[in-house]
Amino acid sequence: MIRFVTAGESHGPALVGIIEGIPAGMDLSVDMLQHDLSRRKMGYGRGGRMKIETDEVRFLSGVRRGKTLGSPITVVLENRDFRNWDVDMDPNPREGEPGRVVHVPRPGHADYAGAVKYAHQDLRNVLERASARETATRVALGGIARRYLALLGIEVCSYVLRIGQVEIPAPISEELLGDLERLREMVMGSEVFCPDPAVSASMVEAIREAKKAGDTLGGILEVRTNPLPVGLGSYVQWDQRLDGALARAMMSIQAIKGVEIGLGFESSRRFGSQVHDPFITGEGATEIVRSRNNAGGVEGGVSNGQPLVVRVAMKPISTLYEPLPSVDLSTGKSAPATIERSDICAVPAASVVSEAMACLTLAQAVSEKFGGDSVEEFLAHFHASETRNSIRWNRK
Ligand SMILES: Cc1cc2nc3c(=O)[nH]c(=O)nc-3n(C[C@H](O)[C@H](O)[C@H](O)COP(=O)(O)O)c2cc1C
Repeated sequence: MIRFVTAGESHGPALVGIIEGIPAGMDLSVDMLQHDLSRRKMGYGRGGRMKIETDEVRFLSGVRRGKTLGSPITVVLENRDFRNWDVDMDPNPREGEPGRVVHVPRPGHADYAGAVKYAHQDLRNVLERASARETATRVALGGIARRYLALLGIEVCSYVLRIGQVEIPAPISEELLGDLERLREMVMGSEVFCPDPAVSASMVEAIREAKKAGDTLGGILEVRTNPLPVGLGSYVQWDQRLDGALARAMMSIQAIKGVEIGLGFESSRRFGSQVHDPFITGEGATEIVRSRNNAGGVEGGVSNGQPLVVRVAMKPISTLYEPLPSVDLSTGKSAPATIERSDICAVPAASVVSEAMACLTLAQAVSEKFGGDSVEEFLAHFHASETRNSIRWNRK
């Protein structure tokens, strides 16, 4: 079983993540995680913090001489910005030095509900942990999960479909979707991780306009895999459904407010005949194949051998440079909402985080199905399974 937790405050000394259940003997180095961490810092519309942080990973446990040990793997990312916050974020008592105290909650952020829940007077005690800085740890752990999935040839990628009102007008061609390497190249060639250059330029313009107005923007992104092995997840119990696990994982990301699998909400508008993916026989009638993938790779909570397609909606960033009205909780008087250094649009970054969460969720499902304490044992279990990509006719 794979499980993971994260810890750390946005301006604290460091972020920490622990993942357990990765088999022994897997190649792993910090370099393998660094690319995703750099991608998370990118995207037009990010704030100044991203220029401060290097997000270099260090392993504290679970890896020795480039191989996993089978024990819990601990990753640490130092917050370079801590040096500007060492007094405010000092874990030791500092009598008579309250530091920079926050009393005015930002509508849309965790500030108010978190302060009431944990009885905090200083909203910094909430926002430091609620901040999406935490997602850097998820991306590091997601990179480990990505290596684990790669042992089975599973690849995960993502791209941005919409920012505010600007969206890709037509579906991305099947040819491009079938070539994840090329798709990834096109995504990386865009400042907003959108594979359509003309639409990318309009998205950048929309973010620029929002910034000028002191406002923020959200959007929609899609996460996609190559064809998955059949049988990840299960219909036998509510909490074993793969679609349910993915929806929860995506909704756990800060500011994510909607998740669709495959055709998603659009399927509710169509007749069944236009939604469900017919079974047809493949070459020589030895395989069953599907003529389309409206189900997004999951039927009955189980992966069906098709690529996984998950779409995620992100709300606009809630810290506004032209702040909304709020109330100072220390005086009860009206006041503009607090301004923390902030992104204008973080949809591209959220696409990297969504990939990480997809990797972690799929890794959990893969390890439940195939298990294995060592890579050797894991691969032996996998190869013993006949279910990859298609179900054979006349299975014995
Ligand atoms: C990658 C990423 C970056 C984010 N950056 C900011 C930011 O700079 N400022 C901000 O107010 N919210 C930011 N958010 C969103 C907040 O963290 C989020 O809205 C807040 O924690 C409240 O949670 P909720 O929106 O899920 O209710 C970001 C979210 C993500 C995924």
